[in-house]
Amino acid sequence: MTTQSAPTLEFQVTRNLAPKTDAERAEILKDPGFGNYFTDHMVDICWSENGGWHRPRVQPYGPIALDPAASVLHYGQEIFEGIKAYRHADGSIWTFRPDQNAQRLQRSAHRMALPELPEEYFLQSLKEAIKVDAAWVPSGEDQSLYFRPFMFAKEAFLGVRPAKKVAYYLISSPAGAYFTGGVKPVNIWLSKDYARAGKGGTGAAKTGGNYAASLLPQAEAYEKGCQQVVFLNEDGNVEELGGMNVIFVYKDGTVVTPKSDSILPGITRASILQLAEDRGHKVESRPVSLQEWRDGVASGDIVEVFACGTAAVITPIGVLKSDEFEDVQPIGELALSLREELTDIQYGRREDKHGWLYRLDA
Ligand code: PLP
Ligand code: COI
Repeated sequence: MTTQSAPTLEFQVTRNLAPKTDAERAEILKDPGFGNYFTDHMVDICWSENGGWHRPRVQPYGPIALDPAASVLHYGQEIFEGIKAYRHADGSIWTFRPDQNAQRLQRSAHRMALPELPEEYFLQSLKEAIKVDAAWVPSGEDQSLYFRPFMFAKEAFLGVRPAKKVAYYLISSPAGAYFTGGVKPVNIWLSKDYARAGKGGTGAAKTGGNYAASLLPQAEAYEKGCQQVVFLNEDGNVEELGGMNVIFVYKDGTVVTPKSDSILPGITRASILQLAEDRGHKVESRPVSLQEWRDGVASGDIVEVFACGTAAVITPIGVLKSDEFEDVQPIGELALSLREELTDIQYGRREDKHGWLYRLDA
């Protein structure tokens, strides 16, 4: 289903005739939080089995009309991405490793039997969004415009098979910090009764069902005074949080992230491991059991544990809680120093040695 060299799309642009005023937008951008507000436009591209990718549009942001029989509403055939646009000091607008998000969207599509959006179309959709909504990219500290590309089965058909009609959309949402209260350690609830994914399941795909499965344990986490939940797999190994990967730092400087086929391969995680390696840290991707985590913290072998993802950036883990224990986690320097290095690159304050930035407004 992949199109190798896809023809350039000509987007039909319909301007929003009632966009937010400059004053309304400025008010929102003062403190957007995460996921609360949306820009004036959205981008979409249709796909059909016979016609391939077609009818690329930029249109006013607003509700989508769907047939009640659209298969996404019944069988959850849906995928999404999360990627940010950053405003640099000179006003230019950049994104970070969009090729990686485009490729992950393709892998998610493959797993969920959806068509693969060519990488060029993914990039074009981001650029089209910036053409009409550049003013929505905030310039405050740690602010960005969070893009939410997503794709779903819109064919009206109740049989269980891959849909023959699909829609790709891109919406954009100005963002500040994901967790309220700035970069302070978050408490993590260990889910014992629930898993997020299983062997052979959809854990490595960014599909809505994985997040739906995390909501009940996430609600339990809130009840227990935690902001996030950590999942284990059937072997008792650490997987990830509801929406972030986990990284452990050992006292000899080794940086370890859990390896498993059912974890979402995070782009923030991959970038952090690269930055750590550049600094001379040994980097490992291997199974990490809950026992190793708890023993490592107790013995002092593990000196830092942090979570990372596009929305959350890097956030230290303060406490790991369950019904049986409450392990206070050691807080070190590396998480915050890597956070600074990563965000310096993203905001154009430091050299982009790996060529990770991609300009969106030119
Ligand atoms: N794991 C899950 C379940 C996520 O939803 C995310 C966020 O996208 C991540 C990990 C981190 O991925 P990335 O760094 O690519 O945003
Ligand atoms: C992201 O970081 O982009 C995500 O999709 C995580 C989600 C929990 C907001």
